Amino acid sequence: MIRKPIFAANWKMNKGASETEDFTKSLISKIQSENFPCEIVIAPPFTSLSKLAEILHNAASGQNAHAIQIAAQNCSQFDSGAYTGEISVMMLREFFVHYVILGHSERRAIFGETDAMINAKIKKAREANLKPIFCIGETLAEREAGNLESVLRTQVTDGLAGISEKDMLEIVIAYEPVWAIGTGVTATSQQAQDAHQFVRSLISELYGKDVAGKIRIQYGGSVKPNNAAELMACPDIDGALIGGAALEAQSFFDIVSTGSAASV
Ligand code: 13P
Repeated sequence: MIRKPIFAANWKMNKGASETEDFTKSLISKIQSENFPCEIVIAPPFTSLSKLAEILHNAASGQNAHAIQIAAQNCSQFDSGAYTGEISVMMLREFFVHYVILGHSERRAIFGETDAMINAKIKKAREANLKPIFCIGETLAEREAGNLESVLRTQVTDGLAGISEKDMLEIVIAYEPVWAIGTGVTATSQQAQDAHQFVRSLISELYGKDVAGKIRIQYGGSVKPNNAAELMACPDIDGALIGGAALEAQSFFDIVSTGSAASV
């Protein structure tokens, strides 16, 4: 395995502090005796970051809590100041955040985030040494119109404009076809593999073969315990970004467990 798979729970706008505590303690107890060859990440809402950090910090060593990393679901492209409602990268650092999800299709579609804004956020995240989980993906209409590759090319090229090779190596890409998010319709493993291979070829064009071979590309969109193995067995899929099925510790654990075993 050349790339360590990364499984991330994106809770979206779910789980306050007490649910965060229940889930995290349950997950820690399940992974206690396991030694998964993968990274496990939880992205709670901002207001639950502190509780998540506290639970992970307090978990006894040997409980594998150190295997779990914390992600935020967004960050501001600005440092500080008059930006009502925004959260800066330095604020996230105070909660031991390692990753930040950027460019999620819900942020693009509902909150109007553009490729330029996402690019600015990626740069700001890297200034604070946070690792972006950079989301891309096409709508059903774009796919059906034959525009899959051009949409992905624009998102990748504009989202990563001006990002150095060194920073690129700290970025995880998440391919999430919009039509598969929260719909129960997952991409077939062939559709997912084809898109991942294309994204890797784009990275190769921009950064060279060596970097492209090292970059992790997660799949997201209706990943469940019963489809994780087939998706993760694809050569260019390096983990998953999971929404609905990551709201329960058992089902997230099952995805991590079967998915990491199937990763190649
Ligand atoms: P679902 O797993 O609920 O389809 O959500 C995927 C997603 O958007 C993860 O970021």
